[in-house]
Amino acid sequence: MDAVEEIKGRLSIEDVVSPYVELKRSGSSLKGLCPFHQEKTPSFYVRPSHGTFHCFSCGKGGDQFTFVMEMEHLEFRDALKQLAEQAGVTLPEREARKPSLKGKLYEVNEAAQAFFAGALQGNDGRIGRDYLQSRQFGADAVALFGLGYSPRGREALVTCLHEKGFDDHLILAAGLAIQEDSGGRLRDRFRGRLMFPIRDAAGKISGFGGRILGEGQPKYLNSPQTEIFDKSAVLFGIGLAADSIRRTRHAVLVEGYLDAVRAHVGGYLDTVASLGTAVTVQQLGALARMTDTVVLALDPDPAGQNAAARTAITALMELTKARGRAAGAAGAVDLRIARLPEGHGDPDELIRDHPKLWEETIEASKPAFAFFFDQTMASLDRSAEGWRQEAVDRLLPLIQQFSDSAGWQAEWIQRLAAETDIDPTALQRSIPGPSSTRRRQSPVRGREAAMRTTTQALTNDPVLEIERGLIVLLLQILVVPREAAEALDGLTLDRPEHQTILAALLKWQNYEYDLFRESLPEDVREIADNLRGRRAPLPPEGKTSLAVRLILARLQQARLQRQLRSAIETLKAMPADDQLAANQNLGSLYLQIKEMEGEVRDLEMLVLRGNY
Ligand code: UTP
Ligand code: MN
Repeated sequence: MDAVEEIKGRLSIEDVVSPYVELKRSGSSLKGLCPFHQEKTPSFYVRPSHGTFHCFSCGKGGDQFTFVMEMEHLEFRDALKQLAEQAGVTLPEREARKPSLKGKLYEVNEAAQAFFAGALQGNDGRIGRDYLQSRQFGADAVALFGLGYSPRGREALVTCLHEKGFDDHLILAAGLAIQEDSGGRLRDRFRGRLMFPIRDAAGKISGFGGRILGEGQPKYLNSPQTEIFDKSAVLFGIGLAADSIRRTRHAVLVEGYLDAVRAHVGGYLDTVASLGTAVTVQQLGALARMTDTVVLALDPDPAGQNAAARTAITALMELTKARGRAAGAAGAVDLRIARLPEGHGDPDELIRDHPKLWEETIEASKPAFAFFFDQTMASLDRSAEGWRQEAVDRLLPLIQQFSDSAGWQAEWIQRLAAETDIDPTALQRSIPGPSSTRRRQSPVRGREAAMRTTTQALTNDPVLEIERGLIVLLLQILVVPREAAEALDGLTLDRPEHQTILAALLKWQNYEYDLFRESLPEDVREIADNLRGRRAPLPPEGKTSLAVRLILARLQQARLQRQLRSAIETLKAMPADDQLAANQNLGSLYLQIKEMEGEVRDLEMLVLRGNY
């Protein structure tokens, strides 16, 4: 009998599914809430007699293997290994021996974690142990999360991994080491840092984060994008939190590694961390499969909060659309936002010092949109001229995005109207509805004005100037820091000469401008000289990568604005009957621009304030 059949014989479909889905008997089948999409009434059926599952709502179906592959994002071979282990079936050598690349990456990560954990207990690791102690983290935190320490040496980890038989290629693919020049010796990516293994929902290590001990940049260094690691999809702590989240249908999302660690040692088991970024669609999607409610716990900094809230709402809308369901108040998941009380630091400190207050804070969370609305209104200076317009500009596009839920929309239009003293019917009409009549076609005051201001701001196209600014900066530093190079990877600049210089810079490794110049094709040398001669102020020490990200965000924003401008031109030239549909496009562009503005503002703040 082959291994697949043997496993199926020992593990029923019910055995495999039930850890993830609560199943109830229904005739000869079992049914429950589908784990692959969000639903309130069960359309997910398991048929034990056939050994299959099927969801009548999203259409997913299959056997034990397909279920595990879908659920844990595994390749067949890895699902086979996992189920074989669960069933106590020994796989024939051939099938067990050749792990996939992904499988090998998990293996090398596991070996690295063991090394880091050992180092934390050894002589080298004293500094790490002292640091943990100073922040009042004990042995329970270390054991629960498998925390470790990466020694300062050039290649401590690489040497250990070589001894265990892992080759350079794999070590690089896992992002554990860096190779300065091709064919050269590897050096450890993480050195002198407190190490956090990042585990996925199945408990496997997909990457690492490492906190600097003492001064230095960046404060946290994370694994780069790899076959198995995508920072924007990471939910740190999910391996430990998954059970609790599924059981209670409730999840709390914090920002930092140590916030999540603190929550778990404090007994708040439904907590995961987003690695500092505002919540992404992938993160929200993963949580929505496990729970009905997600509470974001945001630090008490109003500007950061507002940006984080806006991004979260946008992610929620995107997810809701991606799930193909009517957008609305509930969306794909009940997303709530809790504001931390001032003066108690981040969740780590709050949980450590005032657990009751932490519970109350989470308890007092508001629905995400209500939070954003209140926060936005509170941030406006009502003595300034144009604050009403500002309120409309900032809130209406978002309200508009929930255009499928008339009741929800009407409610928020009412509130916006009440707050700004603008006639609600005027606001209402400015939203292009699906059943719009000709009467509704004329955009009204608020929207028209919003468009006008945007159009004015666009009269000269700044894309090229921003490109120049980027090259000016890079030509001054010549050696592009790794993180900046990663951010620039894949970028295409509008002007071909800029692109040529950028590509050359990304390969360049020393500080001699003259040599660099020689390496350029002749026809771009003069442009390079000019830009080199411009000498803009350099970003503060250690902030180069961040400054590059800021320029990239500005560039993105400028490109969107250019798109909007040309869309407006097209719209003007259209017959009135077609304008309505086109108008909806504008709304979404406009929203994206607003969002980029938020990102630019956040990055500007970081460059000035010095967080990352
Ligand atoms: P914070 O700078 O707020 O750090 O970043 P923190 O978690 O409070 O750190 P501690 O408590 O001083 O140790 C929040 C999170 O953002 C991510 C990390 O996941 C961090 O926990 N981050 C931060 C990075 O990925 N890179 C950075 O350079 C900084
Ligand atoms: Mn912190």
